[in-house]
Amino acid sequence: MTAWPAGMVWRNHFRRNLLDELEPRTRDGWGEGEAAILGPSLAQFQLGESSDGRHLLRYAREFGERSGDSWLGEAMALFIQEENRHSQWLGEFLKAQGFPLLRRCWSDVVFRVLRKMLGFGLMVAVLVCAEIVAVPYYTAVREMTASGWLRTICARLLQDEAMHLRFQATNLGAVWRRWKFLRAFRRCHKVLMAGICFVVWMEHGEVLRRGGYTRLTFLTRCLELLDEVHAGALAAQRNEWTARVPVAAR
Ligand SMILES: [Fe+2]
Ligand SMILES: [Fe+2]
Repeated sequence: MTAWPAGMVWRNHFRRNLLDELEPRTRDGWGEGEAAILGPSLAQFQLGESSDGRHLLRYAREFGERSGDSWLGEAMALFIQEENRHSQWLGEFLKAQGFPLLRRCWSDVVFRVLRKMLGFGLMVAVLVCAEIVAVPYYTAVREMTASGWLRTICARLLQDEAMHLRFQATNLGAVWRRWKFLRAFRRCHKVLMAGICFVVWMEHGEVLRRGGYTRLTFLTRCLELLDEVHAGALAAQRNEWTARVPVAAR
């Protein structure tokens, strides 16, 4: 159990992590045939990581002030900066392969519009689903690509995303202190997660399949991660929050 406000602990984590720059040993290219399968898919994730998170940041600041954790706003700002750095790493790789970056795609627009319409708690709930999907996705990319550079990026993204899930579990738990009907919410959250898995498989199924997932193992993995986030959120709700909430990228 920690005596420090969660926002402060996370602010410190993100500050430290941002100092740790990624230095790939090699800047090689992807294998034959990867451009057609991996390129369009990776470009969507690159765009997804680039959000400026304006609304999320505003809600986090307001929620932090209301709940007596004024560090939350800064922690969220650094979290967004870290996501943008993911976008920058992926963008750098794609550009080096001569693959054009996306300026817009429908799934990104849907996610952004959806998040704008929600309050902090529901916004975090939607964000958790996106964060969860990233874990099997980057695992699959790491498995399927012939590029050492891209594998290094994916390994680092997975390490960061595991911490993001812990961070969002803490936020969800803080919101849950004020919520009723948690059981019903958790069920709805699982249904949302399953729906998102369905859409993601339609868009990125080939990459996931080549990376070793089936539709079922992908869904199972995402629901398993959601259970872990819920367990972390329940611990945070009870103020039993620790830096070691049981979420880990595999
Ligand atoms: Fe990310
Ligand atoms: Fe993330």
